[in-house]
Parts: sequence; structure tokens; C-alpha cells
Amino acid sequence: MAQKSKYVVGNWKAQLTPDACASLAKELSGLKSPSDCNVWVAPPTTGFNSVISTLKGTSIKVGSQNVWPKSGAFTGETTLASLKEIGASFSLVGHSERRHVFGESIALTEDRCLGALAENFTIIFCVGETLTERESNQTNKIIENQLSGVITRATSEQKKNLIIAYEPVWAIGTGKVATIDQIAVVHAFISTMTGGSLPILYGGSVTPENFGEILNVPNVDGGLIGGASLKVESFSKLVQLAV
Ligand code: PGA
Repeated sequence: MAQKSKYVVGNWKAQLTPDACASLAKELSGLKSPSDCNVWVAPPTTGFNSVISTLKGTSIKVGSQNVWPKSGAFTGETTLASLKEIGASFSLVGHSERRHVFGESIALTEDRCLGALAENFTIIFCVGETLTERESNQTNKIIENQLSGVITRATSEQKKNLIIAYEPVWAIGTGKVATIDQIAVVHAFISTMTGGSLPILYGGSVTPENFGEILNVPNVDGGLIGGASLKVESFSKLVQLAV
């Protein structure tokens, strides 16, 4: 049986100005685009114009770091309609920085995700436990709380556009990558919860040095990468490992 294509998704967070986004996109556009790997990037919204136009014609897809499904009086939001119009292909929802730095609730992340899925938009829905939650053996319970609303309410047709990212909060941007066993256990749990049909990405201090091993873990379909996606050298190494 042919292997499922892997995902290498760069999350540029709020790390780059529009000019810096344009330079990185220009460097990425020179990469040989592999057809058997999903290479996606999520720049800050202020960088969209240049990134989308520069990557047009390559196989690299561009998405946003959050989405709100409705247009209207929603100050500060990035709407689904505008993402579609500029040619964005996907959005992250529920990233740990949205949940923990900006206080987004489970209900809000569900509304964002289900609203976008209902409009045939692809969502990478992020889940993950804090260190305190892991140390008090609550990891599975936390993941279940964050994920179950989306899983039970999305239709099977809508789930075709749904990707899950497991990102332990304590591993994000800290250099502390989860162990292979920890990743295997949570990915197996998510796979069971989601009926084994959705791609599941790992995120949290992924680098070219650890990604090969992580990709070999059962139920890992790729990575959601912050720091190592900001330099073309490391990002292209990640892509090579996933091909
Ligand atoms: P990191 O970020 O690779 O810098 O740990 C991952 C993420 O937040 O998606």
C-alpha cells in the first residue's frame, strides 16, 4: 500500500515583519517542490500578500494562524471570507499560544474550527497539555476535552478537511522535545479518538536533528514547526526528511 504523504507545516508565528516574510518566501520559492510531501507555511497575516504571490506556482500552500468563520463586527479577527479571497489554503486553530497566552476557550476554538470546516476550509486543530497537566496524569483527559467537541460535531465529510496537531505546551519553543514514547502514546490516543482517519502532526521543538526519528513513530503524519521553519536551510532539511 502506498504510504500517506507527510506534512511539513511551518508556523511563522509573529516572528517576521512583512519584508522578512517576503524574503523567506522568496528563498522557499527556490526549493525543489516535492510532490510527495505537503509543504505548508502559515505567515502572520501582515505578510500574506507577498508570501502568497511569491509562492504562487509552487506546491507550497499558504495558510493563516487563526480564523473566524463570519464576517462583520469582529474587531481584530481574520475572516474566512478574506482568507478564501486572497488564496489561503488552510488555517491553524487552537494553537497553544492562542489558548494559553490569549485565553481562547475550548468553546471558541470549536466555533472557529467547526465554522471553517462547514465552509470546506482546511483546519489544523492544535491540542496539547501543559507540564502541570502531564505531571498530574491528565494528558489524555485534556486532549479529550480539547478535541471531543470538534470530533463529535464535525460531519464525516467535513473531517476530510481536518488535521490534528499534537503540541505539548511544555515542548513549544523550549528546546524540550517530547520523547518518542510520549509522542507514540498521545498520537495513538488521538488516532483512536478520531477513528484512525485523520492526519496527526507532532509539534514542539522539532528540528532537523530529531524529525527523522519522530516521523517514524506510528500515527505521526508530519510536523508543525515553529523555530526551525524560519530558516530555509533547516526547513528544507525537514522537508527532505519527510519525502
Ligand atoms: P517550535 O513551535 O517548533 O518553535 O517549538 C512549534 C509550534 O508552536 O507550532
